[in-house]
Amino acid sequence: MKQFYFLCMLCIASFGAVISTKKYDSIFSFGDSLADTGNFIRTGALAFPVIADLPYGETFFRRATGRCSNGRLIVDFIAEAYGLPYLPPYLAIEEGLTHKNGVNFAVAGATALDAKFYADKKLGHVLWTNNSLSVQLGWFKKLKPTICHTKQECDNYFKKSLFLVGEIGGNDYNYPAFGGGSPEELKALVPLVLEKIISTAGMLIAEGAVELLVPGNLPIGCSSVYLTIFQTPDKSAYDQYGCLKAHNSFAQYHNNQLKLALGRLRKKYPHTKIMYADYYNAAKQYVHTPRHHGFTNGVLVACCGGGGPFNFNNTARCGHTGSEACTNPSTYANWDGIHLTEAAYGYIAKGLINGPFTIPPI
Ligand SMILES: *[C@@H]1O[C@H](CO)[C@@H](O)[C@H](O)[C@H]1NC(C)=O
Ligand SMILES: *[C@@H]1O[C@H](CO)[C@@H](O)[C@H](O)[C@H]1NC(C)=O
Repeated sequence: MKQFYFLCMLCIASFGAVISTKKYDSIFSFGDSLADTGNFIRTGALAFPVIADLPYGETFFRRATGRCSNGRLIVDFIAEAYGLPYLPPYLAIEEGLTHKNGVNFAVAGATALDAKFYADKKLGHVLWTNNSLSVQLGWFKKLKPTICHTKQECDNYFKKSLFLVGEIGGNDYNYPAFGGGSPEELKALVPLVLEKIISTAGMLIAEGAVELLVPGNLPIGCSSVYLTIFQTPDKSAYDQYGCLKAHNSFAQYHNNQLKLALGRLRKKYPHTKIMYADYYNAAKQYVHTPRHHGFTNGVLVACCGGGGPFNFNNTARCGHTGSEACTNPSTYANWDGIHLTEAAYGYIAKGLINGPFTIPPI
């Protein structure tokens, strides 16, 4: 008995040692609403954004934090997995919050391409925010002197950091798509969006980043907003899971081009570890077998919304008058028609951290 006790103390001690060995000391995150942990609500772009109120945040934080979900996002689950605190939003740091373990620069509504690009295309009025990827990179550069000083010091610090570059680019396609843009118009944007993502990754590497995780786009053809806007009686437009084929193909096209571009970036910077986060196929797992993953209400209908076949109603979006949240969000993959539930984000994060959906593995 005594010996058993001793052995067990040993195993607890060594197990403790294993989990306390942190792979990353900090995380720096860039992107849009899939990763924003509170920047948008601090930009003042909207006086009363719905994401600043319940039901947003109802499940985990039990208050609205500015996350576009009922609870945690993929970036939160990644932070948890590495024993780090949830990333503070950059704009809260400007207000005085500390940032020992990284910072989140992502802003809901952000595009990879600059606001000027959309202004020139007479699409400027549709942007929710001008805080594009370049603006977020500028914030990082501005904050850097509060993190480290000499090149040596910065290199030592950032080599133990994970840089999450995205998901970004989804909105570059959403804005024109929702405005009636044709698939050809969207496709023409892909090289421009990728050039911006890749050049930003390159600039982060120049600043000292060594480990970068670059996510692709989600299967947008399975999202409530796309299913609502592009609803058609033509059955051949849908796959066997009820998703819009053309929009999923477009997401895959972006993702394949992104993977090729990341391959070129790896060759250019052989000292770095550039990982692709396959959000598309991680999400596809639960799209194919929703019930098996606990999504007993399916994955195409939103939990929170104002009616319609996919519970997405543009005049009564989640948080607005006429909308309502479901009682059990964990049985839905889609939260508000556009964004996913904590349950779906948690599932995708697990697939990235423990599963095969980070290439090469994290
Ligand atoms: C973006 O910038 C333009 C030009 O400066 C401005 O008119 C617009 O209000 C800004 N949009 C947002 C959402 O802040
Ligand atoms: C969408 O919301 C509006 C405003 O609340 C409502 O009048 C309309 O009936 C809703 N549409 C559907 C399909 O539920």
